[in-house]
Amino acid sequence: MTPADYEFLRKLLKDRSGLDLSADKQYLIESRLLPLARRAGLPGLPELVQKLKSGTDALTAEVVEAMTTNETFFLRDKVPFDHLRQTILPDLLHTRANRRSLRIWCAASSTGQEPYSIAMCLKELGSTLAGWRIEILATDLSQAVLEKSRAGIFSQFEVQRGLPIQLLVKNFTQTGELWQLNADIRAMVQHRQLNLLQDFSHLGVFDIIFCRNVLIYFDQNTKVNIFERLSRMLEPDGVLALGAAESVVGITNTFKPYPERRGLYRPNIAPVIRVAAPTLVPQTMRAVAAAR
Ligand SMILES: C[S@@+](CC[C@H](N)C(=O)[O-])C[C@H]1O[C@@H](n2cnc3c(N)ncnc32)[C@H](O)[C@@H]1O
Repeated sequence: MTPADYEFLRKLLKDRSGLDLSADKQYLIESRLLPLARRAGLPGLPELVQKLKSGTDALTAEVVEAMTTNETFFLRDKVPFDHLRQTILPDLLHTRANRRSLRIWCAASSTGQEPYSIAMCLKELGSTLAGWRIEILATDLSQAVLEKSRAGIFSQFEVQRGLPIQLLVKNFTQTGELWQLNADIRAMVQHRQLNLLQDFSHLGVFDIIFCRNVLIYFDQNTKVNIFERLSRMLEPDGVLALGAAESVVGITNTFKPYPERRGLYRPNIAPVIRVAAPTLVPQTMRAVAAAR
């Protein structure tokens, strides 16, 4: 691959998904895109770049998907889910007692382990939630991971990572080597394709947003922009959960750390003074969004 080909792919990935590859990641591109090129009947990456330049949307989407990292597992990092069960949900159930509804968004949900972990935590609350309207929205850039998430079918290896045996027995049905989440848990999660670089204000306001282990792949400006837009999607007493290696500190003041709750944040801006931040959506897409 020539430096010009690498630069073309680097820019395409940054523009389409936010992925910010440094100059030394040629091996990563080669290991992920060479098999894709071969499957498309192309001898190598220079030919793939040529084909992408001629503007095939389906191939571009495949390239973007192939470069995303979909690593996830049930109850990942454990601590945010402990906080969710022990304080966040009890507090929200108290403050929302009149309206009896909760909206939760998993903003880079991958193959579903994260939104379904949330659903299982909620189910553990039992009759406390009787009569409540609970919405868990799972979104991701990749259609492939959303398909898998919708099916709710996981391998032995996947259910062994992070999931206590009691939750496995209670919420899954074994079919041969695979485990399928029971219909009640699957029904708690809605799926939708969504690119975080694009406008997401149409989703409405949430009580809890999980946006974990995705911003880590983006550059500083993209993170700032997404944090600003996320802050306008949360109730003033809502909670943002980030990944263990992620933080808002030194990036944005639109969120502040939730006291003594590592990985959790609260919006820092009162709703009345929230102002629109520019989205990263290209002009043409913004016009489409505005016309909706
Ligand atoms: C490493 S996984 C994290 C999954 C889960 N949140 C967790 O922490 O276990 C990152 C996910 O972000 C998705 N992703 C990458 N870029 C995205 C973008 N621009 N918009 C939405 N999702 C994106 C990927 O497809 C992938 O499924």
